[in-house]
Amino acid sequence: MHSSLLPKNQSKWSKRQIQILESIAEDFTVSTVQLESMATQFVHQMRVGLTEQKPSDLAMVPTFVTGRPNGYERGSYLALDLGGTNLRVCLINLKGNHELESHQKAFKVSEHLQEANVSELMDFIANSIKEFITSEHINAQIVAHPTDSESLELGFTFSFPVAQTAIDGGLLLRWTKGFNCPGAVDNDIVKLLQQALDRNKVNVHVAALVNDTVGTLLAHSYTHPGTYIGAIFGTGTNGAYVENTHNIKTMHADSDEMIINTEWGNFDKDKNYLPVTIFDNKLDRESINPGVHVFEKMISGMYLGEITRNVLLHLIDQRVLFEGTSSPKLNKHWSFETKFMSAIEDDTTGSLIPIAQVLEQELDLYINTQADREIVKFVCQLVGTRAARLSAMATAAVIRQGLDKGMLRNHGYPLKLSIHEEERVDQNGASKGADANRELIQVGIDGTVFEHYPRFEERMKQGLVELLGPHARDIIKLDIAKDGSGVGAALAALIATKTASASSR
Ligand code: GLC
Repeated sequence: MHSSLLPKNQSKWSKRQIQILESIAEDFTVSTVQLESMATQFVHQMRVGLTEQKPSDLAMVPTFVTGRPNGYERGSYLALDLGGTNLRVCLINLKGNHELESHQKAFKVSEHLQEANVSELMDFIANSIKEFITSEHINAQIVAHPTDSESLELGFTFSFPVAQTAIDGGLLLRWTKGFNCPGAVDNDIVKLLQQALDRNKVNVHVAALVNDTVGTLLAHSYTHPGTYIGAIFGTGTNGAYVENTHNIKTMHADSDEMIINTEWGNFDKDKNYLPVTIFDNKLDRESINPGVHVFEKMISGMYLGEITRNVLLHLIDQRVLFEGTSSPKLNKHWSFETKFMSAIEDDTTGSLIPIAQVLEQELDLYINTQADREIVKFVCQLVGTRAARLSAMATAAVIRQGLDKGMLRNHGYPLKLSIHEEERVDQNGASKGADANRELIQVGIDGTVFEHYPRFEERMKQGLVELLGPHARDIIKLDIAKDGSGVGAALAALIATKTASASSR
Protein backbone atom coordinates (compact mmCIF):
# COMPACT_ATOMS: atom_id res chain seq x y z
CA MET A 1 0.00 0.00 0.00
CA HIS A 2 1.28 3.47 -0.86
CA SER A 3 -0.04 6.06 1.53
CA SER A 4 1.47 8.64 -0.88
CA LEU A 5 -1.59 8.14 -3.10
CA LEU A 6 -3.75 9.91 -0.54
CA PRO A 7 -4.07 13.71 -0.45
CA LYS A 8 -1.47 15.40 1.74
CA ASN A 9 -3.41 17.90 3.82
CA GLN A 10 -6.37 15.85 4.85
CA SER A 11 -7.92 16.40 8.26
CA LYS A 12 -7.92 13.46 10.58
CA TRP A 13 -9.14 10.42 8.65
CA SER A 14 -9.71 7.24 10.65
CA LYS A 15 -7.45 4.25 10.11
CA ARG A 16 -10.29 2.49 8.33
CA GLN A 17 -10.96 5.49 6.07
CA ILE A 18 -7.26 5.59 5.16
CA GLN A 19 -7.15 1.90 4.47
CA ILE A 20 -10.25 1.82 2.24
CA LEU A 21 -9.37 5.01 0.37
CA GLU A 22 -5.87 3.72 -0.29
CA SER A 23 -7.26 0.68 -1.95
CA ILE A 24 -9.69 2.76 -4.09
CA ALA A 25 -6.79 5.05 -5.03
CA GLU A 26 -4.78 2.05 -6.16
CA ASP A 27 -7.64 0.85 -8.34
CA PHE A 28 -8.02 4.21 -10.06
CA THR A 29 -4.38 5.26 -10.44
CA VAL A 30 -3.01 4.54 -13.90
CA SER A 31 0.79 4.36 -14.01
CA THR A 32 2.99 5.36 -16.94
CA VAL A 33 3.72 1.68 -17.54
CA GLN A 34 0.01 0.92 -17.80
CA LEU A 35 -0.50 3.87 -20.15
CA GLU A 36 2.37 2.59 -22.29
CA SER A 37 0.96 -0.89 -22.63
CA MET A 38 -2.50 0.47 -23.47
CA ALA A 39 -1.03 2.82 -26.09
CA THR A 40 0.84 -0.06 -27.73
CA GLN A 41 -2.36 -2.07 -27.82
CA PHE A 42 -4.31 0.94 -29.10
CA VAL A 43 -1.95 1.35 -32.06
CA HIS A 44 -2.25 -2.38 -32.72
CA GLN A 45 -6.06 -2.19 -32.70
CA MET A 46 -5.90 0.83 -35.03
CA ARG A 47 -3.90 -1.21 -37.51
CA VAL A 48 -6.30 -4.15 -37.23
CA GLY A 49 -9.16 -1.75 -37.91
CA LEU A 50 -7.40 -0.33 -40.98
CA THR A 51 -7.00 -3.88 -42.34
CA GLU A 52 -10.08 -5.88 -41.39
CA GLN A 53 -13.60 -5.25 -42.65
CA LYS A 54 -15.31 -6.05 -39.35
CA PRO A 55 -12.82 -5.34 -36.55
CA SER A 56 -14.12 -5.98 -33.05
CA ASP A 57 -12.59 -3.01 -31.20
CA LEU A 58 -11.69 0.13 -33.16
CA ALA A 59 -14.00 0.48 -36.18
CA MET A 60 -11.50 2.86 -37.97
CA VAL A 61 -14.18 4.09 -40.37
CA PRO A 62 -12.92 5.58 -43.66
CA THR A 63 -14.97 8.77 -44.00
CA PHE A 64 -14.53 9.50 -47.73
CA VAL A 65 -13.33 12.96 -46.71
CA THR A 66 -10.11 13.23 -48.67
CA GLY A 67 -8.74 16.62 -47.89
CA ARG A 68 -8.72 19.32 -45.31
CA PRO A 69 -9.93 22.90 -45.67
CA ASN A 70 -7.35 25.65 -45.95
CA GLY A 71 -9.54 28.46 -44.68
CA TYR A 72 -10.28 30.04 -48.07
CA GLU A 73 -13.53 28.15 -48.70
CA ARG A 74 -16.65 30.27 -49.25
CA GLY A 75 -20.41 29.71 -49.34
CA SER A 76 -23.51 29.27 -47.20
CA TYR A 77 -24.59 25.86 -45.98
CA LEU A 78 -27.04 24.41 -43.56
CA ALA A 79 -25.59 22.25 -40.83
CA LEU A 80 -27.22 19.81 -38.49
CA ASP A 81 -25.67 18.48 -35.34
CA LEU A 82 -27.17 15.50 -33.52
CA GLY A 83 -25.21 13.68 -30.89
CA GLY A 84 -26.82 14.12 -27.53
CA THR A 85 -29.78 15.74 -25.88
CA ASN A 86 -29.66 18.76 -28.18
CA LEU A 87 -30.22 19.01 -31.89
CA ARG A 88 -28.60 22.08 -33.37
CA VAL A 89 -29.59 23.51 -36.73
CA CYS A 90 -27.17 26.10 -38.10
CA LEU A 91 -26.67 28.26 -41.12
CA ILE A 92 -22.96 28.74 -41.69
CA ASN A 93 -21.61 31.41 -43.96
CA LEU A 94 -17.99 30.60 -44.83
CA LYS A 95 -16.41 33.89 -45.78
CA GLY A 96 -12.92 32.76 -46.80
CA ASN A 97 -9.82 34.11 -45.01
CA HIS A 98 -10.48 31.69 -42.11
CA GLU A 99 -13.60 33.66 -41.19
CA LEU A 100 -17.20 32.62 -40.86
CA GLU A 101 -20.56 33.62 -39.51
CA SER A 102 -23.07 31.29 -37.99
CA HIS A 103 -26.70 31.42 -36.91
CA GLN A 104 -28.11 28.57 -34.96
CA LYS A 105 -30.99 27.25 -32.96
CA ALA A 106 -31.02 24.35 -30.55
CA PHE A 107 -33.94 21.95 -30.15
CA LYS A 108 -34.24 19.57 -27.22
CA VAL A 109 -34.36 15.88 -28.08
CA SER A 110 -36.72 14.46 -25.46
CA GLU A 111 -36.05 11.20 -23.65
CA HIS A 112 -39.02 9.76 -25.51
CA LEU A 113 -37.44 10.61 -28.89
CA GLN A 114 -34.12 9.07 -27.89
CA GLU A 115 -35.81 5.68 -27.82
CA ALA A 116 -38.66 6.27 -30.31
CA ASN A 117 -38.82 4.70 -33.74
CA VAL A 118 -36.20 6.30 -36.00
CA SER A 119 -38.82 7.72 -38.40
CA GLU A 120 -40.30 9.71 -35.50
CA LEU A 121 -36.81 11.03 -34.66
CA MET A 122 -36.20 11.97 -38.31
CA ASP A 123 -39.60 13.71 -38.61
CA PHE A 124 -38.67 15.74 -35.56
CA ILE A 125 -35.36 16.71 -37.20
CA ALA A 126 -37.05 17.64 -40.50
CA ASN A 127 -39.57 19.82 -38.69
CA SER A 128 -36.86 21.50 -36.65
CA ILE A 129 -35.06 22.39 -39.88
CA LYS A 130 -38.32 23.69 -41.32
CA GLU A 131 -38.86 25.88 -38.27
CA PHE A 132 -35.30 27.18 -38.51
CA ILE A 133 -35.33 28.06 -42.22
CA THR A 134 -38.74 29.67 -42.18
CA SER A 135 -37.73 32.09 -39.48
CA GLU A 136 -37.48 35.46 -41.22
CA HIS A 137 -34.03 36.26 -40.02
CA ILE A 138 -32.61 33.15 -41.61
CA ASN A 139 -34.46 33.70 -44.88
CA ALA A 140 -32.80 37.07 -45.15
CA GLN A 141 -29.45 35.36 -44.72
CA ILE A 142 -30.12 32.84 -47.45
CA VAL A 143 -31.21 35.53 -49.87
CA ALA A 144 -28.03 37.43 -49.15
CA HIS A 145 -25.81 34.39 -49.75
CA PRO A 146 -27.60 32.02 -52.13
CA THR A 147 -26.13 28.58 -52.78
CA ASP A 148 -25.67 27.35 -56.35
CA SER A 149 -28.26 24.63 -56.26
CA GLU A 150 -32.02 24.99 -56.01
CA SER A 151 -32.50 23.31 -52.69
CA LEU A 152 -30.40 24.18 -49.69
CA GLU A 153 -27.39 21.94 -49.20
CA LEU A 154 -27.03 20.47 -45.75
CA GLY A 155 -24.15 18.81 -43.91
CA PHE A 156 -25.21 16.41 -41.18
CA THR A 157 -23.01 15.80 -38.16
CA PHE A 158 -24.30 12.58 -36.69
CA SER A 159 -22.25 11.61 -33.67
CA PHE A 160 -22.75 7.87 -33.56
CA PRO A 161 -20.78 5.01 -35.11
CA VAL A 162 -21.59 4.78 -38.80
CA ALA A 163 -20.03 2.59 -41.50
CA GLN A 164 -19.65 5.27 -44.10
CA THR A 165 -20.47 4.17 -47.69
CA ALA A 166 -19.85 7.57 -49.28
CA ILE A 167 -19.47 11.15 -48.09
CA ASP A 168 -23.28 11.28 -48.25
CA GLY A 169 -24.19 7.85 -46.98
CA GLY A 170 -23.58 5.49 -44.09
CA LEU A 171 -25.11 2.64 -42.13
CA LEU A 172 -25.55 2.97 -38.38
CA LEU A 173 -23.41 0.35 -36.63
CA ARG A 174 -24.91 0.76 -33.15
CA TRP A 175 -26.42 3.43 -30.95
CA THR A 176 -24.36 4.89 -28.09
CA LYS A 177 -24.77 7.54 -25.37
CA GLY A 178 -28.30 6.66 -24.28
CA PHE A 179 -29.97 6.58 -27.71
CA ASN A 180 -31.77 3.44 -28.80
CA CYS A 181 -34.19 4.15 -31.66
CA PRO A 182 -35.45 1.01 -33.41
CA GLY A 183 -35.23 0.93 -37.20
CA ALA A 184 -31.86 2.68 -37.54
CA VAL A 185 -29.12 0.07 -37.08
CA ASP A 186 -27.84 -1.20 -40.47
CA ASN A 187 -29.85 1.49 -42.27
CA ASP A 188 -28.58 4.49 -44.22
CA ILE A 189 -28.86 7.57 -42.03
CA VAL A 190 -28.81 9.99 -44.95
CA LYS A 191 -31.66 8.16 -46.69
CA LEU A 192 -33.70 8.12 -43.51
CA LEU A 193 -33.24 11.87 -43.09
CA GLN A 194 -33.81 12.70 -46.78
CA GLN A 195 -37.05 10.67 -46.76
CA ALA A 196 -38.24 12.58 -43.70
CA LEU A 197 -37.35 15.91 -45.33
CA ASP A 198 -39.28 14.93 -48.47
CA ARG A 199 -42.19 13.59 -46.44
CA ASN A 200 -42.41 16.88 -44.56
CA LYS A 201 -41.90 19.00 -47.71
CA VAL A 202 -38.66 20.61 -46.57
CA ASN A 203 -36.63 21.65 -49.61
CA VAL A 204 -33.23 20.63 -48.32
CA HIS A 205 -30.73 18.18 -49.78
CA VAL A 206 -28.47 16.16 -47.47
CA ALA A 207 -25.07 16.52 -49.12
CA ALA A 208 -22.76 15.08 -46.49
CA LEU A 209 -22.76 12.93 -43.39
CA VAL A 210 -19.92 13.29 -40.89
CA ASN A 211 -19.09 12.23 -37.38
CA ASP A 212 -18.61 15.05 -34.85
CA THR A 213 -14.89 14.26 -34.59
CA VAL A 214 -14.57 14.65 -38.36
CA GLY A 215 -16.56 17.89 -38.22
CA THR A 216 -14.27 19.15 -35.48
CA LEU A 217 -11.17 18.25 -37.48
CA LEU A 218 -12.52 20.05 -40.57
CA ALA A 219 -13.64 23.09 -38.57
CA HIS A 220 -10.30 23.41 -36.81
CA SER A 221 -8.47 23.05 -40.13
CA TYR A 222 -10.45 26.00 -41.48
CA THR A 223 -8.89 28.24 -38.84
CA HIS A 224 -5.66 26.21 -38.34
CA PRO A 225 -4.70 24.47 -41.59
CA GLY A 226 -2.75 21.25 -41.08
CA THR A 227 -4.76 20.03 -38.07
CA TYR A 228 -4.09 16.30 -37.58
CA ILE A 229 -6.69 15.17 -35.00
CA GLY A 230 -10.28 16.15 -34.19
CA ALA A 231 -11.36 14.86 -30.79
CA ILE A 232 -14.42 15.01 -28.59
CA PHE A 233 -14.31 14.83 -24.80
CA GLY A 234 -17.93 15.57 -23.95
CA THR A 235 -21.01 13.40 -23.38
CA GLY A 236 -19.07 10.74 -25.29
CA THR A 237 -15.48 10.54 -26.50
CA ASN A 238 -13.92 9.79 -29.86
CA GLY A 239 -11.20 10.90 -32.26
CA ALA A 240 -10.68 11.27 -35.99
CA TYR A 241 -7.34 11.84 -37.70
CA VAL A 242 -5.72 12.09 -41.08
CA GLU A 243 -4.34 8.81 -42.42
CA ASN A 244 -2.08 8.10 -45.34
CA THR A 245 -4.31 6.14 -47.75
CA HIS A 246 -1.52 3.53 -48.28
CA ASN A 247 -2.30 2.32 -44.79
CA ILE A 248 -6.04 1.88 -45.38
CA LYS A 249 -6.56 -1.67 -46.62
CA THR A 250 -10.34 -1.80 -46.23
CA MET A 251 -11.04 0.30 -49.31
CA HIS A 252 -9.39 1.83 -52.33
CA ALA A 253 -8.90 5.59 -52.44
CA ASP A 254 -7.26 7.67 -55.16
CA SER A 255 -6.31 10.49 -52.84
CA ASP A 256 -3.15 10.70 -50.71
CA GLU A 257 -4.95 11.19 -47.44
CA MET A 258 -8.31 10.39 -45.89
CA ILE A 259 -9.85 11.23 -42.55
CA ILE A 260 -10.49 8.14 -40.42
CA ASN A 261 -13.07 8.06 -37.63
CA THR A 262 -11.48 5.75 -35.05
CA GLU A 263 -14.60 5.29 -32.83
CA TRP A 264 -12.09 4.97 -29.98
CA GLY A 265 -14.90 4.75 -27.39
CA ASN A 266 -14.89 1.04 -28.18
CA PHE A 267 -11.15 0.54 -27.55
CA ASP A 268 -10.34 -2.78 -25.86
CA LYS A 269 -13.93 -3.93 -25.74
CA ASP A 270 -12.98 -7.15 -23.94
CA LYS A 271 -11.23 -5.21 -21.16
CA ASN A 272 -7.91 -7.01 -21.48
CA TYR A 273 -5.85 -3.85 -21.03
CA LEU A 274 -8.19 -1.26 -19.54
CA PRO A 275 -7.83 -0.80 -15.78
CA VAL A 276 -11.54 -1.39 -15.11
CA THR A 277 -12.70 -1.39 -11.49
CA ILE A 278 -15.76 -3.00 -9.93
CA PHE A 279 -17.37 0.45 -10.14
CA ASP A 280 -16.91 0.57 -13.92
CA ASN A 281 -18.32 -2.92 -14.28
CA LYS A 282 -21.37 -1.99 -12.26
CA LEU A 283 -21.98 1.06 -14.43
CA ASP A 284 -21.54 -0.92 -17.63
CA ARG A 285 -23.84 -3.71 -16.53
CA GLU A 286 -26.59 -1.23 -15.64
CA SER A 287 -26.18 0.85 -18.81
CA ILE A 288 -28.43 0.75 -21.86
CA ASN A 289 -25.62 -0.90 -23.89
CA PRO A 290 -23.59 -3.30 -21.70
CA GLY A 291 -20.24 -4.38 -23.10
CA VAL A 292 -20.17 -1.57 -25.66
CA HIS A 293 -17.88 1.50 -25.51
CA VAL A 294 -16.35 0.51 -22.16
CA PHE A 295 -13.43 2.92 -22.73
CA GLU A 296 -15.84 5.79 -23.35
CA LYS A 297 -17.61 4.87 -20.11
CA MET A 298 -14.34 5.54 -18.20
CA ILE A 299 -13.78 8.94 -19.80
CA SER A 300 -16.80 10.89 -20.87
CA GLY A 301 -19.26 13.25 -19.26
CA MET A 302 -22.24 10.97 -19.50
CA TYR A 303 -20.56 8.48 -17.15
CA LEU A 304 -17.99 10.09 -14.82
CA GLY A 305 -20.59 11.20 -12.29
CA GLU A 306 -22.12 7.74 -12.19
CA ILE A 307 -18.74 6.08 -11.54
CA THR A 308 -18.20 8.55 -8.70
CA ARG A 309 -21.67 7.80 -7.33
CA ASN A 310 -20.87 4.09 -7.34
CA VAL A 311 -17.68 4.72 -5.35
CA LEU A 312 -19.45 6.99 -2.85
CA LEU A 313 -22.17 4.39 -2.24
CA HIS A 314 -19.50 1.76 -1.67
CA LEU A 315 -17.84 4.02 0.91
CA ILE A 316 -21.19 4.66 2.57
CA ASP A 317 -21.86 0.93 2.72
CA GLN A 318 -18.45 0.46 4.35
CA ARG A 319 -19.49 3.13 6.87
CA VAL A 320 -16.55 5.41 6.14
CA LEU A 321 -18.57 8.26 4.56
CA PHE A 322 -21.56 10.34 5.72
CA GLU A 323 -21.79 8.20 8.87
CA GLY A 324 -22.92 5.34 6.69
CA THR A 325 -26.08 7.10 5.48
CA SER A 326 -27.06 7.84 1.89
CA SER A 327 -29.98 9.94 0.61
CA PRO A 328 -32.82 8.92 -1.73
CA LYS A 329 -31.33 11.29 -4.31
CA LEU A 330 -27.85 9.79 -4.16
CA ASN A 331 -29.38 6.32 -4.35
CA LYS A 332 -30.91 7.18 -7.71
CA HIS A 333 -29.18 5.96 -10.84
CA TRP A 334 -27.34 8.80 -12.72
CA SER A 335 -28.23 11.37 -10.04
CA PHE A 336 -24.62 12.46 -9.48
CA GLU A 337 -23.87 14.58 -12.53
CA THR A 338 -20.38 15.14 -13.93
CA LYS A 339 -20.89 18.88 -13.49
CA PHE A 340 -21.04 18.31 -9.71
CA MET A 341 -17.56 16.81 -9.96
CA SER A 342 -16.33 19.96 -11.70
CA ALA A 343 -17.75 22.13 -8.92
CA ILE A 344 -16.28 19.85 -6.26
CA GLU A 345 -12.81 19.75 -7.82
CA ASP A 346 -12.93 23.51 -8.24
CA ASP A 347 -13.30 24.02 -4.49
CA THR A 348 -9.90 24.96 -3.12
CA THR A 349 -11.15 26.63 0.05
CA GLY A 350 -9.88 25.25 3.34
CA SER A 351 -13.35 24.68 4.77
CA LEU A 352 -14.74 23.09 1.60
CA ILE A 353 -18.06 24.87 2.13
CA PRO A 354 -18.79 24.97 -1.64
CA ILE A 355 -18.57 21.16 -1.62
CA ALA A 356 -21.01 21.06 1.30
CA GLN A 357 -23.37 23.18 -0.78
CA VAL A 358 -23.30 20.72 -3.68
CA LEU A 359 -23.85 17.80 -1.32
CA GLU A 360 -26.71 19.50 0.48
CA GLN A 361 -28.48 21.36 -2.31
CA GLU A 362 -28.10 18.82 -5.10
CA LEU A 363 -28.10 15.56 -3.18
CA ASP A 364 -29.79 16.16 0.20
CA LEU A 365 -26.67 14.96 2.04
CA TYR A 366 -26.86 17.18 5.10
CA ILE A 367 -24.54 15.32 7.44
CA ASN A 368 -21.13 15.95 5.96
CA THR A 369 -18.02 16.47 8.00
CA GLN A 370 -14.76 18.03 6.81
CA ALA A 371 -13.36 14.52 6.34
CA ASP A 372 -16.44 13.53 4.29
CA ARG A 373 -15.98 16.51 2.00
CA GLU A 374 -12.29 15.75 1.57
CA ILE A 375 -13.10 12.17 0.71
CA VAL A 376 -15.72 13.19 -1.88
CA LYS A 377 -13.22 15.58 -3.45
CA PHE A 378 -10.53 12.92 -3.47
CA VAL A 379 -12.83 10.43 -5.22
CA CYS A 380 -13.65 13.05 -7.89
CA GLN A 381 -9.93 13.67 -8.35
CA LEU A 382 -9.26 9.98 -8.83
CA VAL A 383 -12.07 9.50 -11.38
CA GLY A 384 -11.32 12.78 -13.20
CA THR A 385 -7.56 12.20 -13.35
CA ARG A 386 -7.97 8.68 -14.70
CA ALA A 387 -10.30 10.03 -17.41
CA ALA A 388 -7.77 12.66 -18.48
CA ARG A 389 -4.88 10.18 -18.53
CA LEU A 390 -6.83 7.68 -20.62
CA SER A 391 -7.74 10.52 -22.99
CA ALA A 392 -4.05 11.37 -23.28
CA MET A 393 -3.29 7.73 -24.02
CA ALA A 394 -5.74 7.62 -26.96
CA THR A 395 -4.44 10.92 -28.33
CA ALA A 396 -0.82 9.82 -27.96
CA ALA A 397 -1.54 6.50 -29.70
CA VAL A 398 -3.06 8.26 -32.70
CA ILE A 399 -0.03 10.54 -32.81
CA ARG A 400 2.27 7.49 -32.68
CA GLN A 401 0.50 5.98 -35.66
CA GLY A 402 1.17 9.22 -37.54
CA LEU A 403 4.83 9.24 -36.46
CA ASP A 404 5.45 5.57 -37.32
CA LYS A 405 3.42 5.04 -40.44
CA GLY A 406 1.41 8.01 -41.43
CA MET A 407 1.17 11.71 -41.87
CA LEU A 408 3.60 12.86 -39.15
CA ARG A 409 6.75 11.14 -40.29
CA ASN A 410 8.75 14.34 -40.38
CA HIS A 411 8.60 14.39 -36.59
CA GLY A 412 10.90 12.12 -34.58
CA TYR A 413 9.82 9.78 -31.83
CA PRO A 414 9.98 10.54 -28.93
CA LEU A 415 9.01 13.99 -30.10
CA LYS A 416 11.97 16.23 -30.79
CA LEU A 417 12.15 19.91 -31.40
CA SER A 418 12.90 20.71 -35.03
CA ILE A 419 16.34 21.99 -36.07
CA HIS A 420 15.01 25.51 -36.10
CA GLU A 421 13.61 24.93 -32.71
CA GLU A 422 16.90 23.62 -31.28
CA GLU A 423 18.56 26.84 -32.28
CA ARG A 424 16.07 28.59 -30.11
CA VAL A 425 16.76 26.53 -27.03
CA ASP A 426 19.36 28.23 -24.84
CA GLN A 427 22.28 26.49 -23.16
CA ASN A 428 20.27 25.73 -20.06
CA GLY A 429 17.85 23.77 -22.20
CA ALA A 430 15.01 26.23 -21.78
CA SER A 431 12.96 27.02 -24.85
CA LYS A 432 13.22 30.67 -25.84
CA GLY A 433 9.64 30.31 -26.86
CA ALA A 434 9.49 31.66 -30.42
CA ASP A 435 6.69 29.76 -32.12
CA ALA A 436 7.45 30.89 -35.63
CA ASN A 437 9.19 27.79 -36.97
CA ARG A 438 7.66 25.28 -34.70
CA GLU A 439 5.92 22.45 -36.45
CA LEU A 440 3.00 21.81 -34.23
CA ILE A 441 0.87 18.72 -34.06
CA GLN A 442 -2.54 20.29 -33.86
CA VAL A 443 -5.47 18.68 -32.08
CA GLY A 444 -8.87 20.39 -32.38
CA ILE A 445 -11.07 19.48 -29.42
CA ASP A 446 -14.72 19.99 -28.58
CA GLY A 447 -16.73 18.82 -25.59
CA THR A 448 -17.78 19.95 -22.14
CA VAL A 449 -15.38 17.71 -20.24
CA PHE A 450 -12.32 19.20 -21.95
CA GLU A 451 -13.74 22.68 -21.79
CA HIS A 452 -15.10 22.79 -18.25
CA TYR A 453 -13.63 20.00 -16.12
CA PRO A 454 -10.97 21.55 -13.86
CA ARG A 455 -7.37 20.60 -14.74
CA PHE A 456 -8.48 18.09 -17.38
CA GLU A 457 -6.19 19.68 -19.98
CA GLU A 458 -3.20 19.85 -17.63
CA ARG A 459 -3.63 16.21 -16.62
CA MET A 460 -3.92 15.23 -20.25
CA LYS A 461 -0.72 17.09 -21.07
CA GLN A 462 1.08 15.29 -18.27
CA GLY A 463 -0.01 11.97 -19.81
CA LEU A 464 1.17 13.07 -23.25
CA VAL A 465 4.60 13.91 -21.82
CA GLU A 466 4.82 10.48 -20.19
CA LEU A 467 4.00 8.80 -23.49
CA LEU A 468 5.68 11.01 -26.07
CA GLY A 469 8.53 12.68 -24.23
CA PRO A 470 9.16 16.05 -22.56
CA HIS A 471 8.73 18.05 -25.75
CA ALA A 472 5.13 16.89 -26.13
CA ARG A 473 4.12 20.04 -24.28
CA ASP A 474 5.79 22.26 -26.88
CA ILE A 475 4.86 20.34 -29.99
CA ILE A 476 1.31 19.10 -29.39
CA LYS A 477 -1.24 21.86 -29.38
CA LEU A 478 -4.56 20.99 -27.74
CA ASP A 479 -6.99 23.61 -28.90
CA ILE A 480 -10.70 24.14 -28.33
CA ALA A 481 -12.69 24.05 -31.55
CA LYS A 482 -15.95 25.27 -30.09
CA ASP A 483 -19.06 24.17 -31.99
CA GLY A 484 -16.76 22.46 -34.45
CA SER A 485 -19.49 20.03 -35.42
CA GLY A 486 -21.70 22.67 -37.03
CA VAL A 487 -18.94 24.39 -38.98
CA GLY A 488 -17.45 21.02 -39.89
CA ALA A 489 -20.77 19.80 -41.27
CA ALA A 490 -20.99 22.89 -43.45
CA LEU A 491 -17.44 22.32 -44.70
CA ALA A 492 -18.26 18.68 -45.44
CA ALA A 493 -21.32 19.80 -47.44
CA LEU A 494 -19.08 22.19 -49.37
CA ILE A 495 -16.48 19.49 -50.07
CA ALA A 496 -19.25 17.09 -51.16
CA THR A 497 -21.03 19.52 -53.48
CA LYS A 498 -17.74 20.62 -55.04
CA THR A 499 -16.71 17.00 -55.60
CA ALA A 500 -20.14 16.15 -57.05
CA SER A 501 -20.13 19.09 -59.47
CA ALA A 502 -16.50 18.38 -60.51
CA SER A 503 -17.31 14.74 -61.31
CA SER A 504 -20.48 15.62 -63.25
CA ARG A 505 -18.55 18.05 -65.47
C1 GLC B 1 -19.75 8.21 -29.19
C2 GLC B 1 -20.11 7.96 -30.65
C3 GLC B 1 -19.13 8.62 -31.58
C4 GLC B 1 -18.98 10.09 -31.22
C5 GLC B 1 -18.61 10.24 -29.76
C6 GLC B 1 -18.48 11.68 -29.32
O1 GLC B 1 -18.56 7.57 -28.92
O2 GLC B 1 -20.14 6.57 -30.90
O3 GLC B 1 -19.53 8.47 -32.92
O4 GLC B 1 -18.00 10.67 -32.02
O5 GLC B 1 -19.60 9.61 -28.95
O6 GLC B 1 -19.66 12.39 -29.47
